[in-house]
Amino acid sequence: MPASKPKVLVTSRLPSVALDPLRHATDLDYRNEAGPIPREMLLDRIRDIDGLVAQLTDKVDAELLAAAPKLRVVADVSVGYNNIDIAAAKQRGIMITHTPDVLTDATADLTLGLILGITRRLVEGDRLIRRGGWKGGFGLDFMLGTDLRGKRLGIIGMGRIGQAVAKRAVAFGMEIAYVVSPRAGGSPAGQRKDFDGFTATPLILDELLGSSDIVSVHVPLTADTRHLIDQKKLARMRRSAYLINVARGPVVDEGALAWALKEGVISGAGLDVFEHEPTVHPDLMTLENVMLVPHLGSATRETRTRMAELAVSNCLNVVLGKPPLTPVPEMKLQDQATR
Ligand code: GLV
Repeated sequence: MPASKPKVLVTSRLPSVALDPLRHATDLDYRNEAGPIPREMLLDRIRDIDGLVAQLTDKVDAELLAAAPKLRVVADVSVGYNNIDIAAAKQRGIMITHTPDVLTDATADLTLGLILGITRRLVEGDRLIRRGGWKGGFGLDFMLGTDLRGKRLGIIGMGRIGQAVAKRAVAFGMEIAYVVSPRAGGSPAGQRKDFDGFTATPLILDELLGSSDIVSVHVPLTADTRHLIDQKKLARMRRSAYLINVARGPVVDEGALAWALKEGVISGAGLDVFEHEPTVHPDLMTLENVMLVPHLGSATRETRTRMAELAVSNCLNVVLGKPPLTPVPEMKLQDQATR
C-alpha cells in the first residue's frame, strides 16, 4: 500500500500557482476564501494535519498547537510572526517559518510612498479636490509640504526593510540615522557606519527621535517593542517631524499618536498598520495630517505570489522531511544549539 501523503491545511486563499506543489505532494485541505479563518473552524480542521500554511491574522497559540498532535510545521505567509507562540511551538518541536527577503522591496517602496504622500500632502489634496474644495487654482503658498533633500530619516529597526528604505531615501537626498539596539551593547559612538550602498549614524532612540525629520518604524512586534513609541517618545520628536509605521500597529500607541497629531506635537504620520486591525482609532479618521493605508506593505501581485510560494516550499520541505528554507530566527538558534 503506498504511504499516505502528509496532510496540509491552507487557512486562506493563496495565488493558485503557489498551491500547485501542495496539490501534487500532499493531501490538501484548502480554504479557498479571502479573510481570516474563523477560530472554531481552524481548531476543527487542524486536528490531524502535518503542516499548516497560515496568515498573520491566524492566531497560532498554545491552545491551537495542542489541538494538532501531528503538526510539524507552521509556515506563515508573512515576514512578521507575532501571531505565533514561538515558545509553545518550540516546546512541541514544531518548526515555524516566515517569508523574509521576498517582500523587502515592496515594503520599502510603500514606505517611500507614505513618506512622499504625507510630506507632500497627496491624499489630503485628493480629498480636497473630491469634496469640491479646490476653488482658487494654483497658488504659490497653497498646500505647501516639506522637501526631503537634506533632511534626516531616522530608522528604528535597521534590518532588511529598514536598510532598503534607507537606500531609497538616500536617492532622495536624505541623511540616515538609525537606532542601535540596546542589546548590541555599549552606547554608540555616533560614528557613521557603512551599509551596503549608504552610510548611517547610529543613535540611541531618544537622540534619533529628537533629531530626525522623519522617523520610520521597522521593528518586529515583541514584548520589548509594544508601545515603543508612546506619548513620551512622541513628545521627544520635533514639531516639524513625521512618523511612519509599516511594521506592526502595536509598536505605536495609537491613542497617543492621535493626541500628538491633534495637538501639533508632530506634523504628520503615515500608517500602514494599526493596533486593532481593521479598526482604526476614531480620532485618526478625522485628522488631515495622517495618511492611512490598509496594511498594504507587501501587497503587489508579484510579491504576494513570491511570499505564498516561499511559505508553501517551507511547509512542503518540512512535511517531506527536509529542512525549511526560511525558519524564523528563533528556530535557527535552536537548530544550532542541537548540533
Ligand atoms: C506583513 O505585515 C508581513 O509581516 O509580512
